[in-house]
Amino acid sequence: MMRGDYKKLEPTAKIFVTGSAGFIGYHLVKALLDYGCHVVGIDNMNDYYDVSLKETRLGLLTNHDRFRFFQKDLTDRQALEQIFQDEKPDIVVNLAAQAGVRYSIDFPDTYIQSNIVGFYNVLECCRHYPVRHLVYASSSSVYGSNKKIPFSTDDQTDRPVSLYAATKKSNELMAYCYSKLYGISVTGLRFFTVYGPMGRPDMAYFKFAEKILRGEPIQVYNNGDMKRDFTYVDDIVKGVINILPNVPLEKDGARYKVYNIGNNRPVKLADFIETLEHCLGKTAKKEFLPMQPGDVYQTYADIQDLVDDFEFRPDTPIEEGMRRFTDWFLSYR
Ligand SMILES: NC(=O)c1ccc[n+]([C@@H]2O[C@H](COP(=O)([O-])OP(=O)(O)OC[C@H]3O[C@@H](n4cnc5c(N)ncnc54)[C@H](O)[C@@H]3O)[C@@H](O)[C@H]2O)c1
Repeated sequence: MMRGDYKKLEPTAKIFVTGSAGFIGYHLVKALLDYGCHVVGIDNMNDYYDVSLKETRLGLLTNHDRFRFFQKDLTDRQALEQIFQDEKPDIVVNLAAQAGVRYSIDFPDTYIQSNIVGFYNVLECCRHYPVRHLVYASSSSVYGSNKKIPFSTDDQTDRPVSLYAATKKSNELMAYCYSKLYGISVTGLRFFTVYGPMGRPDMAYFKFAEKILRGEPIQVYNNGDMKRDFTYVDDIVKGVINILPNVPLEKDGARYKVYNIGNNRPVKLADFIETLEHCLGKTAKKEFLPMQPGDVYQTYADIQDLVDDFEFRPDTPIEEGMRRFTDWFLSYR
């Protein structure tokens, strides 16, 4: 695709978003409804983190007359097929997954069920009930402990350091295969540490905010010497909406592409904690710990493809995004 020849999403499109009660899913569904689209959502409302937060997000969407929600599990193939058959979505965005790197070390089963079996069911449904475009969430964690920065989609990604990363890489391989064999147009998106209002309570920034306010020590790994390409959720949503109507060009018999979506400005963990302290108006007590299994030293997205194909780059500075998160967080508490 050449610069400038990308399409804009038609507001009449019907989009099926899996994981719609999740953090990114909620923000995406809300933006799509505001845009005028019809949206179908599915989520199993699992209790990996506080279900009431998922219910709160969902409650802000379900009164919309262009939104239909199904509380179902991706591993329930029959239920999923029924939704595809009845709703006939134009585009599918697969965000439902068991997220979290550390949790995958102790609880691998749910990753295989949701991320592998669940994703396979989505692919099978797209094969039997064709859609214009399948867009799915991958992750920066597929880069493992790669040293070369920034991380490019041309880099090696076959050395995952967590089962979570391995399932996300598997999704990319499965999606390529389905594109090649069954002519499905598929785009994979490697998200880089997404944060923002209504965010995930299992993520470090959320836990830090909670502990700082309670006056409890926060666990700082590798002495704060780590870097993350923190990406504000609205930038992720804008990126996804740009990509939805644009199927990849055919290459070697497959319409398949993977993009990084990251802020492209990695922030040191120590600086990030300082920003959070500033936004909360309180200093953190810190407990310094060694690097944890499954953790990577840094993430840094090369987003040149995104810029070339869509003239789009995430641009929310960490100070501004963190302020919006803490404003929400303080009222939510
Ligand atoms: N937030 C990030 O920093 C980040 C970074 C990289 C990739 N991702 C990926 O982006 C996607 C969305 O992440 P998020 O941060 O919104 O996470 P989230 O956990 O808030 O959202 C995922 C949603 O999917 C639902 N779900 C999980 N398994 C399901 C199943 N089997 N059937 C139906 N619903 C199921 C969960 O209940 C949850 O509401 C995930 O695929 C995640 O792996 C997120």
